[in-house]
Amino acid sequence: MNKFLSTSIGRKVIMAITGFFLITFLLVHLGINLSLFWGKEAFNGASEFMATNGVIQVMQYVLAAGFIMHILLGIRLELKNRASRSVKYVMNKPSENASLASRNMIITGILVLLFLILHLKDFFVQLKFNAKGGFDTDYDLVTALFKSPLYTALYVLAFVLLGIHLSHGFQSAFQSTGANYNKFKACIKNTGIAFSILIAVGFSSIALYFFFI
Ligand code: HEM
Repeated sequence: MNKFLSTSIGRKVIMAITGFFLITFLLVHLGINLSLFWGKEAFNGASEFMATNGVIQVMQYVLAAGFIMHILLGIRLELKNRASRSVKYVMNKPSENASLASRNMIITGILVLLFLILHLKDFFVQLKFNAKGGFDTDYDLVTALFKSPLYTALYVLAFVLLGIHLSHGFQSAFQSTGANYNKFKACIKNTGIAFSILIAVGFSSIALYFFFI
């Protein structure tokens, strides 16, 4: 494993595999959170299932390891890219050769990480270790937080940044691991864009709905 990680291809493949894993997590997390629209009972039931199911409990550790690995390898990749870019070419115009999302992966990644720290502090830690932050149920805590305009705005901003990060990350993960990547390039790119919009709009709709009702 150490040998594999010491090659740049190895690191990109691990980035891609952890990326795929996080993409799956986001779909499951969005699905569970959308049950907020079905009311208190539905969301609390889904929450209870997530908190007591054995497989999900084990997967939480895998998720944490996946997140940490993805972040550390992402930072390392950026530092390496910067070092190799220190020899600049006069004719190189980054804005013409790469998309805005691909040029800013480290920035959007770090901002999403800051969001995640805030999110875990206010949701995960409160529900798991702090008697639901003084609220009766999970639903009450979640919906109360989205009553603040600043909190809701920060969340929506984070979801847009996450969407931008995913719009490049999705296709990049296929490129790093994929045999046949070129053949399906356009299809993968479009699926990635559709997925990013689904994530950004799906999560934002929850925050905005509970802010406005
Ligand atoms: C409206 C949007 C969101 C809501 C309402 C929401 C809600 C929640 C809740 C209630 C928990 C605690 C679950 C429990 O431990 O019982 C949680 C945990 C978590 N959330 Fe979110 N979340 C949202 C968006 C996101 C996004 C966009 C990400 C990733 C970038 C994310 C990542 C996590 C992680 C890693 C955990 C801890 C693992 C887990 O408990 O599943 N969440 N979220």
